[in-house]
Amino acid sequence: MTAHTAHADTPPGYQSGFGNQFASEALPGALPVGRNSPQQAPLGLYAELLSGTAFTAPRNHNLRTWMYRRRPSAMHEAFARIDDGGWRSGPFTDAETPANRLRWNPWPMPDTATDFIDGMLTIAGNGDPHAQTGAAVHVYRANRSMDSRYLMNSDGELLIVPQAGALLLHTELGRLHVAPGEIALVPRGMRWRVTLPEGEARGYVCENYGVPFRLPELGPIGSNGLANARDFLAPVAAFEEDAGPVRIVNKFMGHLWEGGQAHTPLDVVAWHGNLVPCKYDLAHFMAIGTISFDHPDPSIYTVLTSGSDTPGIANCDFVIFPPRWLVAEDTFRPPWFHRNVMSELMGLVRGVYDAKAEGFVPGGVSLHNCMLPHGPDAATFERASTAELKPHRIDNTLAFMFESRHVFRPTAQALGAANLQPDYDAAWRGFKAGNTQRPQETRQP
Ligand code: FE2
Repeated sequence: MTAHTAHADTPPGYQSGFGNQFASEALPGALPVGRNSPQQAPLGLYAELLSGTAFTAPRNHNLRTWMYRRRPSAMHEAFARIDDGGWRSGPFTDAETPANRLRWNPWPMPDTATDFIDGMLTIAGNGDPHAQTGAAVHVYRANRSMDSRYLMNSDGELLIVPQAGALLLHTELGRLHVAPGEIALVPRGMRWRVTLPEGEARGYVCENYGVPFRLPELGPIGSNGLANARDFLAPVAAFEEDAGPVRIVNKFMGHLWEGGQAHTPLDVVAWHGNLVPCKYDLAHFMAIGTISFDHPDPSIYTVLTSGSDTPGIANCDFVIFPPRWLVAEDTFRPPWFHRNVMSELMGLVRGVYDAKAEGFVPGGVSLHNCMLPHGPDAATFERASTAELKPHRIDNTLAFMFESRHVFRPTAQALGAANLQPDYDAAWRGFKAGNTQRPQETRQP
């Protein structure tokens, strides 16, 4: 039994902006004017609020959307626990967290029918959905569309980074087509399903238990640059026709629960608000770097940030390393060696990352937790410290990082995975010692 959108074969429509007060109606006159909850909503629809922040959050952080739907979303049967599959949640205590740098090769595509939920596999995470702090990082591998199965995640919003194959997200507010090179953000609690226009898909997910991702402050950069708000795309209203009973999976308090109802949950005919799913083409990111010397801190590449209760210290930042020009003079241009208080989990959508000559491949993951030393591998160091410093463009690359104030704790299933590289430490073997002998000490008598 499959459910279909009213205009399933037409490309999704979009409206642009990030955090806007959007408004959209799939049928003329469906959206009330001048009030949110009239005594009788147009067309006999039901008014329903979805909030993404506490009601009393400051106005410039406040997120909520009003939906006008054919039936209240409350109209469903009781939910029952189902198997969590590979989806793990905080608190991440099923394995001791190694004091080691870790790297994984890509996870293979599934060889049995697997949808977006079944294909979710948790690599690492921190915090706890109960406390609404921290984040989990997953990879998904899917080869089956969700036809009459829907997801809602009560534990956090999902930031999706496709790596292979496009996804079509059918949400309560409309549809988003998301391909590798783009990202999508789906709010906590929204109901949606994923179909696979190309038959097979793989990518990364950050499940953010904390405050919703937003654009970073720009400080001295000014009013333009990095990810510009107008390049984010939200859907236009689109609802599905009923096509029989459906199942809804609710991820709640770290576990999957499933319940049934007789009708599609994607029956929102009109909506308005600023809590919306959206997508963003990372090619629109205006990368800023040095035009004099030194390698800037990677925070200059922050696309989205989820803050914590300490200003400037992120629950989770989403940072990308896109194609760009390197022009720094008298500078070791790749990332420097470092030990950071923040923990870093990286993935690669395409190409080669400029700090690693080999071993970090598209679909793979690397993890450098709090205070663990890392930086360029020996081959990269050798090349970059002797290279002619002419302007150089890094092309065909798209790496990204989820960076958190909380240590990413790998799951037992990730630590036991066959694709965990056995000797990542070898990346930092073979560096020659610096010469500490002064010239006069080496002079012969
Ligand atoms: Fe790092």
